[in-house]
Amino acid sequence: MRTIDWADGAIELIDQTLLPGELVIRRVTTLGELIDDIQRLAVRGAPALGVAGALGVALLAHEGDPPEAVRRHAARLRAARPTAVNLAWGVDRALARLGDGPAAVLAEALAIRDQDISACVAMGARGADLIRGMLDAHDDDDGLGYVDGFGHADDPGEAGASGRGRPARVMTVCNTGGLAAVERGTALGVVQTLHERGQLELAYALETRPLLQGARLTAWELERMGAPYRLLVDSAGAFLLSQGIADVVLIGADRIAANGDTANKVGSYALALAARAAHVPFLVVAPESTIDPSTRSGKDIEIEDRGADEVVRFAGVRVAPEGAQAVNPAFDVTPAKLITAIVTERRVIRCHRGEWPI
Ligand code: MRU
Repeated sequence: MRTIDWADGAIELIDQTLLPGELVIRRVTTLGELIDDIQRLAVRGAPALGVAGALGVALLAHEGDPPEAVRRHAARLRAARPTAVNLAWGVDRALARLGDGPAAVLAEALAIRDQDISACVAMGARGADLIRGMLDAHDDDDGLGYVDGFGHADDPGEAGASGRGRPARVMTVCNTGGLAAVERGTALGVVQTLHERGQLELAYALETRPLLQGARLTAWELERMGAPYRLLVDSAGAFLLSQGIADVVLIGADRIAANGDTANKVGSYALALAARAAHVPFLVVAPESTIDPSTRSGKDIEIEDRGADEVVRFAGVRVAPEGAQAVNPAFDVTPAKLITAIVTERRVIRCHRGEWPI
């Protein structure tokens, strides 16, 4: 099953606002519908947005408008959500083929789709290998030292089970699975690969307020995988890390700046601080397309503000008193210094002498 695809002259996408209750495939035939679906998070997650952006340009190109009109409309699509660089990247890649005709634009969009599918397979394997290596290195250590970020500041206690080859306990936030990409995910793709290899003890998924991508979408995907997991309220993550319940924190990314600072779902930064305090490695898993060398640092990343409504209401019902105001950044930025490594489909990037070889 694909989260987003092209079929018979239109975009087809899973309406993620209806999950886990209903699995509905929407057929999108106009740019207005696509922008609306992106903004209300019917389609979401950086890699899926990259494909949506490119397929959106293919839709425009097939309408037969002159190239200037296609470019003008595509600018609206490009700006539909500002933080995930993949949306603009997908739009630009497809636009670059406009001069070659609609078939070439569509071919480019489908190439982005296919590259995402293989990139997620590669990230899953690379991330799972990295975690296996880190866990084994830690468990080979006789407990006297601190190896590669694994290990606990104080006493690992019962939760810090040891033994070479033991399965991993991972914590993650938001949804970074197949729903955030095309078929398999990024950070959740690593969890899936660990599970398929019989190397996953337990995944801890943060519910991800306010829109519950963790509780609704990640839990739905973990159920379908048959992977063992527990849901947590977001505010439980830090404490449970301090108790040694996870070996590693895995997140996806919406934009990785040239210095390694990483924008991802709000709550990621708090988790990174807690992981550092608990001496738990913090891994970012994202395709190369999420790396944006033209953004110098996290300070230059625009953070989407989604307005008060999502906070003062829960599932459409007002929970805060009338008149309550709210602040609702959809993302935050984790400084590179809190990141152990960035895993892409091509490489594992680590800080080297204070620099990130992005
Ligand atoms: O607001 P969302 O649901 O689009 O936020 C998604 C995330 O923050 C993901 O972690 C990120 O896009 C990476 S998805 C593989």
